[in-house]
Amino acid sequence: MFKLNSNDREKFIKFLMDNYDKFPQGVKDFFDNHFSLDEVYQFDFMAEIYAYLFPQKYMTDFNFYTCYITCLFNKFPDLKERKVLEIASGLIPGLAYLIEKIIKPNNISCMDPRLLNLPVRGVKQIKNKFTMETDISPYDLLIAHCPCEAFEVIVNRVLEEPKDICIQTCRCYGDEYLSDFRFRRYIIKQIIKLEKLQKYGYYVDTTYTPLMINEAPVITLKREKNV
Ligand SMILES: C[S@@+](CC[C@H](N)C(=O)[O-])C[C@H]1O[C@@H](n2cnc3c(N)ncnc32)[C@H](O)[C@@H]1O
Repeated sequence: MFKLNSNDREKFIKFLMDNYDKFPQGVKDFFDNHFSLDEVYQFDFMAEIYAYLFPQKYMTDFNFYTCYITCLFNKFPDLKERKVLEIASGLIPGLAYLIEKIIKPNNISCMDPRLLNLPVRGVKQIKNKFTMETDISPYDLLIAHCPCEAFEVIVNRVLEEPKDICIQTCRCYGDEYLSDFRFRRYIIKQIIKLEKLQKYGYYVDTTYTPLMINEAPVITLKREKNV
């Protein structure tokens, strides 16, 4: 199980002292008022920090990122050869960093307007919002882990310019947390849109990882049958 030993704790505290001012106010409030080094948190920004500071340890742990990476690799065994863009990578691209360490792909970039731009070896960081105008031509796979409403933007973008995708969805949409019914309806709507690409040889697949974040599936679009 992932736990911090005394060296890790020191490393964590030093990281916080060096970078505290860069974090958004909500994250600062968490560190000021709730954070304990004895706990392992499942929040997105904490997973990003754990993966960034302790990649060797975090990548052998059973967590949201490693479950997603296993699923991604099962769908795309040629991941190493692909030019990957991770969308909505958060403050620190911890997931892209783990993928870089585990799979060693030739080319992995990430995009999020909230990026802190901390140095992350092997990962190109693009501090931008993903929109319908984003140039996706340099990539042959778009991935995302809990991208909130950016999932729908990715779906609409690949309808215009078909491209393989593998997205761990989540229930957040703007300031809302979608109810069971609204989330199901939303996901089905996106799947129906993606299925329009079948005429170009794309297949849509819905998978649940063992950790199944709030019953949100991984949606894959792949231009081959073996998804
Ligand atoms: C719940 S966080 C997930 C962060 C990270 N992927 C993870 O799982 O740890 C959602 C992220 O989506 C980003 N986001 C939302 N819409 C976006 C868009 N259109 N383009 C890029 N990032 C977006 C937000 O800035 C936020 O960092």
